[in-house]
Amino acid sequence: MVTVSGSIASEKARVAESFGRLAPEYDFAGCFAHFGRRLVEVVGVEPGHRVLDVASGRGAVLFPAAERVGALGHAEGIDLAEGMVGATNAEAERCGSAARVRVMDAEQLDFPDAAFDRVLCGFGVMFFPDQKQGFAEMRRVLRADGRVGVSTWRAAESEDLGAVLRVMGLGQPPIPGWITEPEVLSALLVEASFSEVHVAAETHVFRHADLNAYWRGARGTGMRRNIDALDAEQSARVRAALTERLAQYQRSDGYYVPATALLGTGRA
Ligand SMILES: C[S@@+](CC[C@H](N)C(=O)[O-])C[C@H]1O[C@@H](n2cnc3c(N)ncnc32)[C@H](O)[C@@H]1O
Repeated sequence: MVTVSGSIASEKARVAESFGRLAPEYDFAGCFAHFGRRLVEVVGVEPGHRVLDVASGRGAVLFPAAERVGALGHAEGIDLAEGMVGATNAEAERCGSAARVRVMDAEQLDFPDAAFDRVLCGFGVMFFPDQKQGFAEMRRVLRADGRVGVSTWRAAESEDLGAVLRVMGLGQPPIPGWITEPEVLSALLVEASFSEVHVAAETHVFRHADLNAYWRGARGTGMRRNIDALDAEQSARVRAALTERLAQYQRSDGYYVPATALLGTGRA
């Protein structure tokens, strides 16, 4: 059994609590939904597969995986945040999806070895205090010849807001495990004994009707902790600077803002 030290346990509790609060308004103009579908496509989920989605959040990866495996397959998810798990299971019931999520720590998966044909993790590994352990667990529960798919942000969906906050000295400290370099993601997959490792950077452009839509969207991501820390005067200054910065993406019907994900795959 993995021993969880006090500071790691409290960091995990903080992550679970902050993502739980995000659950009702989670996703940013469909960024997570888009890259969730792409991760399922690049890893090659087929009808009949048994799929595990690690750090499921609101099901951006889980729901497209569940659709692909069909009635003969099985897709389930795990997440540390009870709020995410509750909201995603409620949505699964509403949509008639058989997919379900359980509260579980990615670093201590409560599944037997080789239980799945595909293991996926969308934008989750950056939050694991022990990333090597997280990758080792994904490898352990994957059957021989099964495939893993892991995504991280190269340039996150709210990159421009992050840049404005940094310039103004108002940003919160960066998340220590943030992975923006293909080589870093690739090395973690290789170190966990995956073969045929491939990491691709993919960009997609997302439309935000206006600044308020962009701002609301950003509050539905990890960027919320930065936004909520601003007082009214700071918030007004940030919004003015953001308007200037987003001008480069402005068209008649809104802002067309790019985001780039790293999509990593490997074979067990
Ligand atoms: C940015 S969200 C991504 C959610 C989803 N996979 C997606 O692509 O939209 C990150 C998720 O990782 C979960 N998470 C963070 N640390 C975790 C851990 N140690 N075990 C399981 N889930 C974790 C959070 O609760 C959150 O739901």
